Amino acid sequence: MTLAEPPGREIRSYVLRQGRLSQAQKRALEEDLPQLLFSRDHCSSPQAAFDCLQPLTLEIGFGNGESLLEMAKQSPERNFIGFEVHGPGVGHLLLGIKRYELRNVRVSQSDAVDFLRALPEASLQRIQIFFPDPWHKKKHHKRRIVNVELLGLVARVLEPEGVLHVATDWQPYAEEIQTLFEADQRFSVVEAPQRPETKYERRGRRLNHVITDLAIQRC
Ligand SMILES: C[S@@+](CC[C@H](N)C(=O)[O-])C[C@H]1O[C@@H](n2cnc3c(N)ncnc32)[C@H](O)[C@@H]1O
Repeated sequence: MTLAEPPGREIRSYVLRQGRLSQAQKRALEEDLPQLLFSRDHCSSPQAAFDCLQPLTLEIGFGNGESLLEMAKQSPERNFIGFEVHGPGVGHLLLGIKRYELRNVRVSQSDAVDFLRALPEASLQRIQIFFPDPWHKKKHHKRRIVNVELLGLVARVLEPEGVLHVATDWQPYAEEIQTLFEADQRFSVVEAPQRPETKYERRGRRLNHVITDLAIQRC
């Protein structure tokens, strides 16, 4: 696996891994994703992807979707769009959505940043990024998803008083994010909302990592 991007290609916050799909996940991707898909065509009017108009949360990098599923179950009065590029994770979430017959979740197996560029101004009430890849090595820091460019996109698509919530178990990344958040005049730092535990977070706790939740609100 090489991390070098082909010349002229944008630096991505992920590397596509070959993941093993279970039979059930494969079937879910083939049969259920088309109905639950949040597609490019939905970008001009994201609420049109749902049965009813409700406050909208967008999650970047939901992993296996466990915490997104829990939030969607707990908050039927909110709509959720989940982005994840890793196929088995998408399949896992789709199976959960089907099992609990949730109507308030849509899914995309794409780079969320591309979609943030296409969504209308002030269309989201919350954006959440739980345990983004920390990209430990200095030469890979440029791949960290929480950066100045992302905050520019977030400032445009969040509605006034909308919240960006980030959690990480990597202390140097937490400090970098906190500095970014405090320096940006378009937002104020607020208390992070409650959230369910994620799979990656459990791994961090096993390694005795400190978990940090950080949030900013659009002024
Ligand atoms: C470290 S994992 C954390 C997963 C999950 N949030 C958790 O806490 O268990 C980060 C995930 O973000 C996904 N990801 C990274 N950049 C992304 C992007 N631009 N769009 C969509 N997914 C992305 C990766 O594929 C990876 O699965």
